[in-house]
Amino acid sequence: MKTNNSTYILAIESSCDDTGVAILHNDKVLCNVVANQEIHSQYGGVVPELASRAHQQNIVPVVAQALKQAGIDKKQLNAIAFTKGPGLMGSLLVGSSFAKSMALALNIPLIGVNHMQAHILAHFINDDSQQKPPFPFLCLTISGGHTQIVKITDHFTMEVIGETIDDAVGEAFDKSAKILGLPYPGGPLVDKHAQLGNPNAYIFTKPKTKNSLDFSFSGLKTAILYFIQKQVKENPNFIEENLNDICASIQFTITTILMDKLKKAVKQTGIKHIAIAGGVSANSEIRKVLKKAENKYNWTTYIPKFEYTMDNAAMIGIVGYYKYLDEQFDDLGITASARMKF
Ligand code: KG4
Ligand code: ZN
Repeated sequence: MKTNNSTYILAIESSCDDTGVAILHNDKVLCNVVANQEIHSQYGGVVPELASRAHQQNIVPVVAQALKQAGIDKKQLNAIAFTKGPGLMGSLLVGSSFAKSMALALNIPLIGVNHMQAHILAHFINDDSQQKPPFPFLCLTISGGHTQIVKITDHFTMEVIGETIDDAVGEAFDKSAKILGLPYPGGPLVDKHAQLGNPNAYIFTKPKTKNSLDFSFSGLKTAILYFIQKQVKENPNFIEENLNDICASIQFTITTILMDKLKKAVKQTGIKHIAIAGGVSANSEIRKVLKKAENKYNWTTYIPKFEYTMDNAAMIGIVGYYKYLDEQFDDLGITASARMKF
């Protein structure tokens, strides 16, 4: 284990549709720049070919902006970290190729990072507004591509104890939003409307899965579709007249599914330190219910700072930092991996 007490890491995140570059000094974030790609909203979802092209356009100016914001010279960097996977292959290739070239040019170590591990270790970023969970803890990792309950024993030992067998929870939000005519990504919009609606207005049945800790969301999406089609047939204005109540009911159903599984996971493992991670953990209802669980079930919950929940490069940087201390470096032969597991 290295004991350097001054390490600068530049991290690149390009797994999906946002180009992120962060610079960390040890476990502190000096800058966390994200260039969002607006282009996809008109297509109702991320178009992989357009995403990789936009990454190519963004990567050089975003790296330059990050160095400027952090106020450091690239010669001060100790390592380059990048997202190896999982994600969209074309997008990952842009980030990994750039990271390799930069590490080669500066003659510093290259560190490939698992995106899902990064969502979890975002909790270890040294920031006054968040608390680091102690080991072992459970993490509900919820994003547009993943839904998992993970048992974390140390920074590098993570075991998936439950996961979705079909759609991810972010997809459940986004597809429901699409049915309601809301633009992509619909999750934040469902959240916004839900705050003004009645969560008990409509009841959607919860799915059953074989393994008690696994999730399934494709049935819910179909149930919502049939329900909306039926209602719109009777009243063409049904959606606009009841949008807030529909969103609140969908959000309530999804939150209840997540909480039921978490309760089971706590029962099975005996672990009561619960963290959330991933883009969907920005959801206000999920945050609220989890906070309430502290008193209700005697859990300690860890909710990351908003900017570290969505895809961002700071979370890649913190994994890079721990791997740097552990001297877990990659050579230039490393390749991106679209379906990377822990
Ligand atoms: O982690 P993330 O930024 O990207 C992936 O790795 O997938 O997660 C994006 C997902 C999208 O599905 C988006 O709709 C969802 O997170 N999301 C939300 C909210 N904010 C983002 N879903 C529900 N409520 C929110 N407030
Ligand atoms: Zn993500």
